[in-house]
Amino acid sequence: MLHRVIYASEAVGATGLSTLSVAQILGVSEGHNRRDHVTGCLMIHQGHILQALEGARVDLDRLMRRLVADPRHTGLKVLVDVPIAERRLHDPMCLCGDPATLLEKIQLPCISLLTANDVEVLLDLKAA
Ligand SMILES: Cc1cc2nc3c(=O)[nH]c(=O)nc-3n(C[C@H](O)[C@H](O)[C@H](O)COP(=O)(O)O)c2cc1C
Repeated sequence: MLHRVIYASEAVGATGLSTLSVAQILGVSEGHNRRDHVTGCLMIHQGHILQALEGARVDLDRLMRRLVADPRHTGLKVLVDVPIAERRLHDPMCLCGDPATLLEKIQLPCISLLTANDVEVLLDLKAA
C-alpha cells in the first residue's frame, strides 16, 4: 500500500537561500529516494519549505524520522498523510522551479498559509 505525506517546514540558515545547500539536499535525496522507491517534490519559497513524498509506509516513516531530526529546517508540520491508489509524483526528487507562480494560481502568497486541501490542488496543478 502506497502513502502520500506532505509536510511544511521553515528553512534554517542558508537552506532556503543558497543554491549550493539546496543542491546538496537534492543530491542526497535523489539517491536515497531511488533506493527506497520514494518519489518526491520539494518547493522552497521565501524560507518556507513544502515537500510531497510518496512511497511505502515503512520507507516514508524512516524518511520522516530523518527529516524531523535534520537541523537545516524546523517546525515540521504534516499537512497530508493518506493512503493512495497510485503515485502522482514519478521522480525520486524534483524541485519546483517556479513556486511563486504556482502559489499565485491558488491565490496564496505564502507556503505557511497552505491547508491540506490547497496542497492537493497544488499537486494537481503541478501535474497539469
Ligand atoms: C528540506 C529537506 C528535504 C529533504 N528531503 C529528503 C528526501 O526526500 N530524501 C532523503 O533521503 N533525504 C532528504 N533530506 C535529507 C535528510 O533530512 C537527511 O539529512 C538524509 O536523508 C540523511 O542521509 P544519510 O543518513 O545518508 O546522511 C532532506 C532534507 C531537507 C532539509
